[in-house]
Amino acid sequence: MALKSKPFSEQVALVTGGGTGIGRAFAGALASAGARVVIASRNEATLQSTADELNSAAGAERVFAYAFDVRDRGQCEAVVRHCVERFGALDVLVNNSGLAVPETVEEITEEGWDKVLETNLKGAMRLVRAALPVMAAQEFGDIVNVSSQAGKHGYADVPSYCASKWGLLGFAESVRDHVRKSGANVRVFNFCPGLVDVENTATGREPRPGFVHVSNMARTLLYALSLDRNVVLEDINIYSRG
Ligand SMILES: NC(=O)c1ccc[n+]([C@@H]2O[C@H](COP(=O)([O-])OP(=O)(O)OC[C@H]3O[C@@H](n4cnc5c(N)ncnc54)[C@H](OP(=O)(O)O)[C@@H]3O)[C@@H](O)[C@H]2O)c1
Repeated sequence: MALKSKPFSEQVALVTGGGTGIGRAFAGALASAGARVVIASRNEATLQSTADELNSAAGAERVFAYAFDVRDRGQCEAVVRHCVERFGALDVLVNNSGLAVPETVEEITEEGWDKVLETNLKGAMRLVRAALPVMAAQEFGDIVNVSSQAGKHGYADVPSYCASKWGLLGFAESVRDHVRKSGANVRVFNFCPGLVDVENTATGREPRPGFVHVSNMARTLLYALSLDRNVVLEDINIYSRG
């Protein structure tokens, strides 16, 4: 039997960290494709102004701000509930919220390590744990994790960040195995970007040398999500040749 599919215009997405940078570009692309998008992070004012700007660009109210802290278990469960109760579904979960604390191996603090691991890895686990039963029940869903080239290589200046991004890829492998075994119509994509310019984001603006323009991330997201449901596309390594 063919796997269920849905046009973007019927999909509901949750993009963590969707108020800024890569998450904002993802949210804009999904909204332009017709999806309703909940953007969620801590800074409510930033989220709201991003939602306003993206809605005016799309000419429709498709982007909705939701304030939450990915380090809080209850708030992770609540944002997933919010999507389902307000919009009736959760089709795309983009685990994009993330940060780095630059501490070398000799400088690592308990606080720095926990902050990075809780934001970049534990938060993603909590959101997946809450979202997966929803996706399984509706027989449709996509999970997109924003890892990094720091999830494939080690860098001396950000060991906690590397550990979190490698960990995210390991967790994603387990989710894939779970989905395979359960037969759920859920795909798991990982982005492993190199440097992405989140300052020069305007269309046509040159990215800094060594960086890719953020629009490439957005285009790749729509491309990946548009593939047939039976196609497996896993880790996306994307970086500048320069
Ligand atoms: N730009 C790059 O070169 C690059 C390369 C590889 C991977 N990445 C990854 O891409 C993702 C997005 O990064 P970006 O470059 O677009 O930087 P960014 O603009 O700083 O985005 C990070 C987002 O995470 C959110 N966030 C941080 N702590 C949070 C928390 N406790 N709860 C909820 N949300 C939280 C922030 O929103 P609030 O402050 O409102 O909470 C912010 O919107 C990150 O996972 C990053 O590691 C970036």
